[in-house]
Amino acid sequence: MTVKSTCAVAALSVALGGATSVFAQDVEVLHWWTSGGEAAAVSVLKEDLEGKGTGWVDMAVAGGGGDAAMTTLRARVTAGDPPTAAQMLGMNVREWADEGYLGNLNEIAAAEGWDEVVPPAVQAFGKYEGNWVAAPVNMHRPHWVWGSAKIFDELGLEMPTNWDEFFAAADAIEAAGYTAVAQGGQAWQEATIWEAIVLSIDPNLYQSALIEADPEALGSDQMVEAFEIYRKVLGYADDGYAGRDWNLTTALVINGEAGMQIMGDWAKGEVVAAGLTPGEEILCSVVPGTQGSFLFNTDFFAMFDVGEGKQAAQQNMAQSVMSVSFQETFNLTKGSIPARTDVPQGNFDACAQKSMADLAEATAADQLYGSLAHGHGQPAAIQGAYLDVVTAFANSDQSAADAAAALVASVAAAQ
Ligand code: BGC
Repeated sequence: MTVKSTCAVAALSVALGGATSVFAQDVEVLHWWTSGGEAAAVSVLKEDLEGKGTGWVDMAVAGGGGDAAMTTLRARVTAGDPPTAAQMLGMNVREWADEGYLGNLNEIAAAEGWDEVVPPAVQAFGKYEGNWVAAPVNMHRPHWVWGSAKIFDELGLEMPTNWDEFFAAADAIEAAGYTAVAQGGQAWQEATIWEAIVLSIDPNLYQSALIEADPEALGSDQMVEAFEIYRKVLGYADDGYAGRDWNLTTALVINGEAGMQIMGDWAKGEVVAAGLTPGEEILCSVVPGTQGSFLFNTDFFAMFDVGEGKQAAQQNMAQSVMSVSFQETFNLTKGSIPARTDVPQGNFDACAQKSMADLAEATAADQLYGSLAHGHGQPAAIQGAYLDVVTAFANSDQSAADAAAALVASVAAAQ
């Protein structure tokens, strides 16, 4: 049985916390999509829902990576006032489900065949104890390098495929008077770069140190090498580094002020929002040395158990975000690729098509890993222990060896 919205766009007005909605039912959605590209993606969702008779009450909490949104969500739930639905990353889904706050989406998942079309690695986070508790809207890939075609062409450079090429390109870009590697000084952005470097050293290091939290791997010579490479990358940041938001950092590449940025493909959403073509004006390649592997993070919408009155709207939202047409339109804007495998690829840009092909290759080779920086590696408290060490390293002159030792201690203390 397909659960359809019980309410076509309603002529009926419903009073809603002082505001008046023309929809018979509304969803209040907590999310952190506030940059230009992200907000455009939110509009796709809002319009899709409104077209099906479900109103949208926006609860946007700014802050890349979602830390501030998760703090607000906790406060709302603690106050006994959860939103209808919330954006969350993989481990958060598990934690909220474990606490018993999430509604069950099995009925709609079975009716719409989610089990058949969502990759098992994503299902592992969207399901809790065998039950669907959150709808996956995308697959993001955090280990990309974005390059200014203007600067690369001017200097006769190619996108780098190994770290030697990366540093040679960075030196040439810096010598020409541009910022070589635009970076934003926030813990999650720093961790996004660092985890990609760890993956580039050896996928087995990523698995043992970041997914399994093995102390030997955390303190290994390979980990020291990862911090050494990260120290070098940090050396190419500009003076505006401290505290800068990721989208303002992306804007430096879009505007041709910086040569490269290492960032997830939400940066591609900014490129699209700026009217540029990914793969043409803004070049993309995976972080040197990570070809063959695929880090992923998925944005889910989890439905809070807010009583029967909201269930039809929640089902409607879950059905909407999982439809083939929505996943295509939304992900074209968001920069990510669909969370279902049966969405036509033809309309996606070259970088997204590379992502889809790489995902298939990495899945077949068992080289798909959850992103630690983006909530798919460790529970929040332990993830925080990693990020503390990485940001302390990035904002000091700590040696790579001391950082690796600090990582062992910090992760052990959080366990
Ligand atoms: C989310 C993306 C978001 C990015 C920056 C990531 O953790 O998965 O959807 O665009 O953070 O805010």
